[in-house]
Amino acid sequence: MKSILPSFGKDVSIDIGTSITRVMGGNRESMMSEPSIVATDTKLEKIVAVGDEADRIVRRMPDMWRSLSLLQDGFIVDYRVMHTMLHYFLNKVSNSLRRSRVLVSVPCGMTDVEQRAMMDAVIQAGAKEVFLIEAPIAAAIGCDLPIFQPRGSMVIDIGEGTTDMAILSLGGTVQSQTIRFGGGDIDKALMKYVNQCFGLLVSDQTITAIKHSIAIATPPLEEQEFSFQGRDMTNGIVRRSVIHQSEIYEVINNVLQGLLDAIKQMIRNTEPEIVADMMEYGIVLTGGAAQLQGLPERISAELGVPVQVAVNPDTKVVEGLQKAANNIVSLTRFIVNSKGRKGRA
Ligand SMILES: Nc1ncnc2c1ncn2[C@@H]1O[C@H](COP(=O)(O)OP(=O)(O)OP(=O)(O)O)[C@@H](O)[C@H]1O
Ligand SMILES: [Mg+2]
Repeated sequence: MKSILPSFGKDVSIDIGTSITRVMGGNRESMMSEPSIVATDTKLEKIVAVGDEADRIVRRMPDMWRSLSLLQDGFIVDYRVMHTMLHYFLNKVSNSLRRSRVLVSVPCGMTDVEQRAMMDAVIQAGAKEVFLIEAPIAAAIGCDLPIFQPRGSMVIDIGEGTTDMAILSLGGTVQSQTIRFGGGDIDKALMKYVNQCFGLLVSDQTITAIKHSIAIATPPLEEQEFSFQGRDMTNGIVRRSVIHQSEIYEVINNVLQGLLDAIKQMIRNTEPEIVADMMEYGIVLTGGAAQLQGLPERISAELGVPVQVAVNPDTKVVEGLQKAANNIVSLTRFIVNSKGRKGRA
């Protein structure tokens, strides 16, 4: 396969997300992002396309092609999909993969077996060396948090299927964890609400449109509404309806509790001196779902800690990996595992 981005350079970073895989090389301009899916022929069960192309053909002919995801709740569900995806993405961005170091973000608590499977797949795709870094550590590096200073920094990356959190200080990890919460949980709750309360079947795209336009994590000050179309569950007729922001807030409020409890628990288990730093300097949110309206305000109100959302929050993990590539020696403590073509790096 001919590389589309010859400027990717020697180091390539890959953040395999539940919804989107982001690959970065060289500088910030060399970035590619495509859906984390493969399309399979429904009869032959053979993989026929990856990423954007897979998304296109599955949308057009859902009877002939089926999409398979790589991750569920942050963990690998299909190793054949992983091999195909890594091969596709890495070879698409690099002409000289045989000389490349590849940095991959992984969830906290990935088992040794899973780590080795991931590293083997990267080496089999053709890379020279592979380094694994926990996703929230990469996010913290991507946000340029002062992780080497004697002060506590906390980052929370909220994606589609998982939330990765870490507290860092003095060049080490104080605590890190991955929980099963993400934007996909909000989608599921909204879908259930629309089905039950409106009696309408709607597409995933409609739910995403509702979420991105008026979903909110704090009680709305001014009521906004969103008009949408769906198929009546009783008679099959297409009709329009209107959903209000205050209803959506109620739905989201229930879903958010798990996330808020997990953050509280992590802070409770942290040394008071480090918590005092967080009270002063705040928590940084990254990941696509950090863009949910009112989310930083909501977390801040629950915890009494300032919270801010990073600029371009959804690319902070891959940016952090790429920054780490330039600094691999000083970041050795953050490398979860590594492997070279002829064994361990
Ligand atoms: N403006 C927005 N408001 C609310 N949610 C948003 C917004 N923009 C993106 N999202 C949500 O962010 C999520 C995707 O985030 P991201 O790309 O970080 O996930 P991912 O990396 O693929 O998944 P994960 O890290 O969980 O494996 C989706 O649920 C998407 O709907
Ligand atoms: Mg992610």
